[in-house]
Amino acid sequence: MLQIKQVSKKYHGEPILKDVSLEIKEGERVVIIGPSGSGKSTLLRCMAGLESIDGGLILYNGQDVNGSRHSRSEIGMVFQSFDLFQHLSAIQNIMLAPKVVKRVSDQDARSRAVQLLERVRLSDRAEHYPEQLSGGQQQRIAIARALAMNPKLMLFDEPTSALDPEMTSEVLDVIVDLVKDGMTVVIVTHEMEFARRVGDRIIFMDQGKVVEDLPSSQLEEAAKHPRLKQFLNQITSY
Ligand SMILES: Nc1ncnc2c1ncn2[C@@H]1O[C@H](COP(=O)(O)OP(=O)(O)OP(=O)(O)O)[C@@H](O)[C@H]1O
Ligand SMILES: [Mg+2]
Repeated sequence: MLQIKQVSKKYHGEPILKDVSLEIKEGERVVIIGPSGSGKSTLLRCMAGLESIDGGLILYNGQDVNGSRHSRSEIGMVFQSFDLFQHLSAIQNIMLAPKVVKRVSDQDARSRAVQLLERVRLSDRAEHYPEQLSGGQQQRIAIARALAMNPKLMLFDEPTSALDPEMTSEVLDVIVDLVKDGMTVVIVTHEMEFARRVGDRIIFMDQGKVVEDLPSSQLEEAAKHPRLKQFLNQITSY
């Protein structure tokens, strides 16, 4: 579904992604872990076609994500900081992209948004504005907003790291539901228990490179890379 071939990316001349190659197959659930600054968010933004790359190629079903509006519309992304439109209600946030990008009628966009609100268990918050919602609720609206474009691939960048622990599970549950429905997902997360539960593959990034790519069931046993061992020790000790 997604082929990442020898991708390099620089910011102000500094290499951030170095010769990254990865393939994501339809139906796969891929988790990306790695230390801060290792390039996880950058890679995800490149996958979504939100950033240009300096070398290599990213193909979505054979088409360059950077050159193809259609590819980009099939890839949904959810950010750590929710990034909802503050001046729009929850339901308006969900309706906006289908109306503007896909020219869906107000009525059709609304009925789809109503379904999505139900799916993220927020039917009773349709008319609330982001500032009237908890962090976990805002993130679930952000997920519904991404789903409104009917993506085939969903990218999540640390979707719960800005949340208090009691709100984390309500967001993770929504992602688990999506995965059960067969959605192809790539998730950057530090929640290792969740990573093992939903991920069938775990990718470890360090200093702009993919240094391990393992079935999640073999994470501990097969981990050879000393930096991965060190990283796992760090995050499991708190
Ligand atoms: N827009 C930008 N301009 C310049 N440098 C950037 C930009 N975005 C990211 N970087 C740099 O690229 C490197 C990788 O950043 P990135 O956000 O991809 O890391 P990350 O693995 O997601 O880290 P974290 O776990 O802290 O979110 C960092 O050194 C960062 O400072
Ligand atoms: Mg990041």
